[in-house]
Amino acid sequence: MFSQFASFSKIRQESSWLLGSRWLMLLSLVTLTFVVYAEPPVADNADVELGRRIYMEGILPSGKPLQGKRQDTVQVEGATAACETCHRRSGMGSLEGNIVVSPINGGFLFATAENRPIALMDQRAPKNLTRAHEPYTEASFTKVLRENVNVDGRAMNALMPKYDLSDAEVKALMAYLRQLSAEVSPGVGTDKVHFATIITPDTDPKKKDAMVSMMQASFAQRNASQQTYSGRMRMPIDLIPRTLRNWELVVWELQGAPDTWGTQLAENYRKQPVFAVISGLSNTTWAPVHTFCQLEKLPCMLPSVALPPAETGYYSIYYSRGVALEADVLAKHLHNQEKNAPHRLFQVYRDNEVGQGAAQALTKALHDSGIQIENRVLSGNEPSALKAALKGVSNKDALMLWLNPADLSALNKVESQKLPAVTYVSGFLTQENYDFASKAWKPQIRVVYPYDLGEKRQGSEASRQGSEESLKRWLKTWQLPVVDVAFQSEVFFNLLFLTDISSQMLDNLYRDYMIERAEDMLSLGSNVSLYPHLSLARGQRFASKGAYIAHFATDGKLVAESDWIVP
Ligand code: HEC
Repeated sequence: MFSQFASFSKIRQESSWLLGSRWLMLLSLVTLTFVVYAEPPVADNADVELGRRIYMEGILPSGKPLQGKRQDTVQVEGATAACETCHRRSGMGSLEGNIVVSPINGGFLFATAENRPIALMDQRAPKNLTRAHEPYTEASFTKVLRENVNVDGRAMNALMPKYDLSDAEVKALMAYLRQLSAEVSPGVGTDKVHFATIITPDTDPKKKDAMVSMMQASFAQRNASQQTYSGRMRMPIDLIPRTLRNWELVVWELQGAPDTWGTQLAENYRKQPVFAVISGLSNTTWAPVHTFCQLEKLPCMLPSVALPPAETGYYSIYYSRGVALEADVLAKHLHNQEKNAPHRLFQVYRDNEVGQGAAQALTKALHDSGIQIENRVLSGNEPSALKAALKGVSNKDALMLWLNPADLSALNKVESQKLPAVTYVSGFLTQENYDFASKAWKPQIRVVYPYDLGEKRQGSEASRQGSEESLKRWLKTWQLPVVDVAFQSEVFFNLLFLTDISSQMLDNLYRDYMIERAEDMLSLGSNVSLYPHLSLARGQRFASKGAYIAHFATDGKLVAESDWIVP
């Protein structure tokens, strides 16, 4: 046991020493290039941009589409021929089915035995590491593109197209690859990686504290296990040498109006650049954070927000579309009822971004369904306000309450009036708190429910990472309170996810690569969370795509009334 530990730490010291020498090598390489070619940097920048267009978009300097030929017959062109489709934005490569697409950013392409980085090519097979090759030169790089024979004389897999590029085009591509993922991203230090979490002003202090303390506990646990190399960290993948870096968390609590958040975020970021934003909490808008992350090219991983912006960006990944997804699920459910669907639906919401967003989404989804929609904005906090909002609702109508527990609690007091046939509430907004519903009211309530129900979410084996059971055990170990299981399970999943992603990235701490890893890992579908299924095809940014309609059984438990509805 002890000797094992000793040898691990030796590897680790060696690996950080190696990294030091790698930078030295890179430095001398840069100087050398400069001396040999003595190219003015201006020309280089123009080449980098021309190379970027070929790599990312499949557009040649002439403006014509890039042409490639696979197996001498299949012609690929333009965006499909672009290197990015296989080698990815970071240049770190990928796995296409079982075919390994090599990393080709400068660090890998031009590496020598002394400074060769390592990447894991298949997360299911920790021994599948990058193959070493001689450093590429302009001649050998031209040859692999034109003839599909690599620098070591090995014929490449036929998936790699042949490209008949001119010398100038090859040079532009090389210039681009030389600078691609050449340095670790901002937020990564020699012995630390900084992460942030972001909280908007309107949030419940209990949830905020729960999230921050869970993250701090998990970071402390991860840093300790990195040092002692015990517990969860001892997996085959952890035997691959890498630099020891502790995780540091900063909490960015925003204040004031949303239009000032961008400036606050920029100021926080200036003080402490971070590698990524992990989780986050908002009951109102998230748009300024989304915009900031896109601007800084900063991964924003799985925040707990009720309504993410509809427009996706490369750098933000969400659990789901939130209340907008619920609106679409409800519309589909009502549509499925055909003749039994209500003729009229009242929706009650607050006059804020989430309320309006939800109401607009439902209105849009029910457009030409034949169901008439009545919008009622809830204003004020008195029970009389809710009563006023419900005026005219009859038992032939359906009711959708886009309200949180505080607003719903007024329901008890207005219930004496004539009740509508069915009342729908939002799973996200009620936050699993159904105290608002009296015994008499409960049978009529339906929850649009975005998580797993009943036994499934318990995780059949107690050991299932990320199940409700394992979350509760973990909270107990760290003496943290159970505040809101669904919300805390989102944070918990994200922390496990981050541990896995970062352990697979090894020393290749590039933000684009992090997003690529997240896409690929979620698509394996092996993750356990309160969501029945999380997946991201390339370019997708909402991982869960449906919800149940659920009601309360006689024992008070929530049970599914519909299948999992994917609108
Ligand atoms: C359709 C997928 C695909 C596209 C598009 C593609 N490649 Fe490749 N490329 C591959 C595969 C797969 C390999 C690895 C083959 C092997 O190892 O047998 C590869 C290998 C390479 C290698 C050799 C790396 C090594 O380890 O020796 C280079 C260099 C390369 N590609 C550059 C490019 C460039 C530049 C472009 C765009 C102009 C491009 N590739 C477009 C799939 C692709």
